[in-house]
Amino acid sequence: MASALLPLLSSSSSPSRPLCLPSNSSLFTILSTRRLRLCCNSRKNRPHVTLRLSAIDSTAPLSKGSGDDSKKPLLEVRDLTAVIAETKQEILKGVNLVVCEGEVHAIMGKNGSGKSTLSKVLVGHPDYEVTRGSVVFKGENLLDMEPEERSLAGLFMSFQSPVEIPGVNNIDFLNMAYNARRKQLGEPELGPLEFYAYIAPKLDLVNMKIDFLNRNVNEGFSGGERKRNEILQLAVLGADLAILDEIDSGLDVDALRDVAKAVNALLTPKNSVLMITHYRRLLEFIKPTLVHIMEDGRIMKTGDSSLAELLEKKGYAAISAV
Ligand SMILES: Nc1ncnc2c1ncn2[C@@H]1O[C@H](COP(=O)(O)OP(=O)(O)O)[C@@H](O)[C@H]1O
Ligand SMILES: [Mg+2]
Repeated sequence: MASALLPLLSSSSSPSRPLCLPSNSSLFTILSTRRLRLCCNSRKNRPHVTLRLSAIDSTAPLSKGSGDDSKKPLLEVRDLTAVIAETKQEILKGVNLVVCEGEVHAIMGKNGSGKSTLSKVLVGHPDYEVTRGSVVFKGENLLDMEPEERSLAGLFMSFQSPVEIPGVNNIDFLNMAYNARRKQLGEPELGPLEFYAYIAPKLDLVNMKIDFLNRNVNEGFSGGERKRNEILQLAVLGADLAILDEIDSGLDVDALRDVAKAVNALLTPKNSVLMITHYRRLLEFIKPTLVHIMEDGRIMKTGDSSLAELLEKKGYAAISAV
């Protein structure tokens, strides 16, 4: 959520910069239902990429799903190239990745390899422009959707560093986000009491006490509480694909176990998780279908969890050399 809010906060000191929030953020959902136009990468001024799949270099390595043909692809990323909007520096240099329904994928890689950029590009963060390639989500062209449409289509992202929203109560925030989604789906909104009944059992899932709901969003939360709160948002809003960027960072083993347990409980044969992590430790708690190693804006290697073991034992250089 941090990345969602920082552009919003910084815009107050720089009025020329449009307010913008990426898709997955609950706040984005709330604000978008108030019909505020917050995003600066609207379809009109975004470089439009309409590569046909057949036009994509078939020699590019494709980090496929599990290879099980009976599984339906949920996310298909082909030759995705993206630059930083402001400087035009290329960060993603041809990412290929297929995540099928019910799969858990892990992306590992050194700092600066482009993992967070990939996740932010997928949710439509305005800091980046897609310059080549395609992304199909549930059979639809994801790149053609506004960030809030991506969220409504079932994409959720937990950012690396969730930030505080001073003065906004956690339960009100979640209630508004949830109602915004229900409204857009044509379902009746839940009042405070009904929402309380809906959310209370979900607190157990992330092992949080009820008073957690009455505190301001992330204000004074420990690192672990912030991560739990992200998973609570996921549990409340639901998602077909949850992208979890370093959900394990700053967590002690108990908090990690709780967060992993909550993520595992949300997994169904239909929905999928794309988790980004530095540490194999997380993969002991959330078992990945496939592990991808990212390097310099590309997925260089894909394998099963033994790839993460090899990485831990031998380091990135050895993996790249194989
Ligand atoms: N908005 C941005 N402005 C400037 N540089 C950026 C921006 N986003 C990413 N980068 C740069 O792109 C590279 C990849 O960053 P990132 O995707 O955060 O890597 P990772 O998550 O793998 O550590 C880094 O060198 C980072 O400094
Ligand atoms: Mg990162």
